[in-house]
Amino acid sequence: MSPAPPRWRRRDLAAHLAARMGGALLAGLAMHARAASTSGSGAPAPGPGTAPATPRGPAATGGDAATPLPRWTRRIPSSGEHIPAVGLGSWITFNVGRDGAARSGVAEVMRAFFAAGGRLIDSSPMYGSSQAVIGEGLARLGAVPLFAADKVWTGSGSRGAEQAEASRRLWGVARFDLLQVHNLLAVEQHLPTLQQMKAAGRVRYVGITTSEGRRHADFEALMAREPLDFVQLTYNPLDRQAEQRLLPLARERGIAVIANRPFREGQLLRDLQRHPLPPWVAEAGCDGWAQAVLKFIVAHPAVTCAIPATSRVDHVRQNLGAAQGAEPDEAWRRRLAAHVAAL
Ligand SMILES: NC(=O)c1ccc[n+]([C@@H]2O[C@H](COP(=O)([O-])OP(=O)(O)OC[C@H]3O[C@@H](n4cnc5c(N)ncnc54)[C@H](OP(=O)(O)O)[C@@H]3O)[C@@H](O)[C@H]2O)c1
Repeated sequence: MSPAPPRWRRRDLAAHLAARMGGALLAGLAMHARAASTSGSGAPAPGPGTAPATPRGPAATGGDAATPLPRWTRRIPSSGEHIPAVGLGSWITFNVGRDGAARSGVAEVMRAFFAAGGRLIDSSPMYGSSQAVIGEGLARLGAVPLFAADKVWTGSGSRGAEQAEASRRLWGVARFDLLQVHNLLAVEQHLPTLQQMKAAGRVRYVGITTSEGRRHADFEALMAREPLDFVQLTYNPLDRQAEQRLLPLARERGIAVIANRPFREGQLLRDLQRHPLPPWVAEAGCDGWAQAVLKFIVAHPAVTCAIPATSRVDHVRQNLGAAQGAEPDEAWRRRLAAHVAAL
């Protein structure tokens, strides 16, 4: 017997408007002012809530015919700014060293990402050459509507600002949109530094990260105590620990959530792809397991953005394509999680 079709909901008025306005909304998003060189010169990025600039350049023209723009945007609670619900990670996939062909491949992934309406790219000093490779990609692409998310990752509390500055130069941006304390390393020392940078206009948002369920108790305490704009944690149909306390707390405290490791570094998809996609998942607008997993993640009411990493243009288009159509409701999400867990 075929299951009943899923019921749908709209998250809020903004998402509804975004769905209706589509490309027009994204074409109106603020452009990230890029530094002219890695020396860090250039116009500052617009602050939260500032009027959008006119998009320029090939990556801002609104995608290709085969890849409609993502319609799901999410509100950053601390500012009211909206960002697309699917972003781009850079761990491993962008750590390609000096390999010229691989760097060109990353630039093409980034081009496809922006063309499909993406904005948020996440990196870290921990990710080898990824920051420099992103910087090269950005230099090749010209003006793009980037939301630059990076991290501070050093055990030395006094080196946080210095490291963030080195990262900024590698990216070649005027400033980061978001700086996060990576894996809570020296978090008590770095958070005041990042808050000072925010107050001085040198970064727009401040956050903390964890992954794979690590240090959730410490994470929760910081979320309850600190004025955080963002948290980043692992969330996918098999890693659901955050549903218990962290995701509800994020909603309560008005903290945006970035979901990392959506595909468990790819292993989740490799496992799922051995199984057929159920008809009720395809009927929900998923062209495969990757879109099913991403819809599951970003349809959680606390989640702001999922950040799958990929080295492939077809995959980045597919991933951005998950943020379209009607949104699955909680019953669909529960059904998907139960199905995946049972495979
Ligand atoms: N503590 C932290 O702050 C922390 C920890 C972990 C991760 N992160 C962030 O989260 C990001 C994502 O996590 P992750 O990189 O560990 O892994 P992930 O995004 O869960 O998985 C990446 C893998 O999925 C594959 N993939 C992507 N899209 C696909 C598609 N449509 N179909 C099939 N395969 C696909 C990629 O292979 P292909 O290249 O072949 O597409 C890649 O091997 C990281 O890059 C990083 O930015 C942060």
